[in-house]
Amino acid sequence: MSGMRVLLTGAAGFIGSHIRRDLVGAGHEVTSLDLMLAAAHGPTASTPEGVARVDVRDGAALDAVLHGIDVVCHQAAVVGNGVSAQDAPAYASHNDFGTAVLLAAMDRAGCHRLVLASSMVVYGEGRYRGERCGTVDVGTRRAEDLDAGMFEYRCPDSGEILTWDSVHEDAPLRPRSLYAASKLAQENYAAAWASVTGSSVTALRYHNVYGDDMPRDTPYSGVAAIFRSALEAGQAPQVYEDGRQTRDFVHVTDIAAANVAAVEQPLPGFVPLNVSSGRPITIGEVATTLAAARGGPTPVVTGRYRAGDVRHIVADPDRARRAVGFAAQVDPIAGLTQFAFAPLRDSAGTFAPTF
Ligand code: UD1
Repeated sequence: MSGMRVLLTGAAGFIGSHIRRDLVGAGHEVTSLDLMLAAAHGPTASTPEGVARVDVRDGAALDAVLHGIDVVCHQAAVVGNGVSAQDAPAYASHNDFGTAVLLAAMDRAGCHRLVLASSMVVYGEGRYRGERCGTVDVGTRRAEDLDAGMFEYRCPDSGEILTWDSVHEDAPLRPRSLYAASKLAQENYAAAWASVTGSSVTALRYHNVYGDDMPRDTPYSGVAAIFRSALEAGQAPQVYEDGRQTRDFVHVTDIAAANVAAVEQPLPGFVPLNVSSGRPITIGEVATTLAAARGGPTPVVTGRYRAGDVRHIVADPDRARRAVGFAAQVDPIAGLTQFAFAPLRDSAGTFAPTF
């Protein structure tokens, strides 16, 4: 389906700029907005050609661009996991108030379709099971276990070590960070808006995204950029826990493809979809793959841990395939090998977000 009129927010960001390129490449007419937040772009970045500097919390500015738009692809957000409680107002303001203002403006403009950038962080921990105890609802890991180097969950009844299972979209949603809370609130506002107005929302729950133009190492960066920046500086990647924690690393070109598919395929009501590679990988493997591609140094498994980190979160990618025909193309080992020398954004993430 070509020739749709799409409003893209966050169009100058790491993910948004890939989506913009692909939407235009697919023949859509794209109106691109970005606030050019210093936290994401540095204090002096100029707005890219063809992108209007607009704050999604500005309803009047949205009214001026929403006329005739078929679908909004909403990527604008403050990202990262939140470094301190002082980040809470920025997440609430940009991510949640911003989405609320956008939904109201869409209603005024008669626009009934939203593709929302969400995240696997809405799940909190992944899914666990044991041979003897079946599926187990885990809480958070105890500091004394982590300090003793016991990073896996155990079944509270049988004591056996639990293994991970992949997470479906209807899993319980238990956000554990300020950022996760803000992403789930965005989903909740969008779901309520869909049911009240009879609109369509496809919420794409991105797993761990990496790829060209990713922000460099900052307290708000994902681990792939942190490892990659360390290697570039000649330092060994510092792998936390025992390196066997599992994630799904999905390449930004696949994230862009999933957005194009969701834009082109209206679904009834609120539909959340995992966007993942379907090929889980451990953090230790991420480090060794990047280090091998760059010729060292060898990663160090530190046994240190970050309070609040989840142990394993692995997606079931099937619903996205069935609903919008999306299947990731980039294998994580091949993608991370290429990422070892990919260009990164320099000025990004230097500053804590403000509101
Ligand atoms: C990340 C993002 C989150 C995003 C989600 C899905 C960040 C900070 N987190 O969550 O916002 O929504 O993916 O795209 O952007 N680790 C190391 N060494 C390091 C840093 C981290 O071993 O130097 C480990 C962590 O302990 C963790 C794993 O790497 O086990 C992943 O960490 P991180 O990249 O922060 O991602 P997530 O918590 O999975």
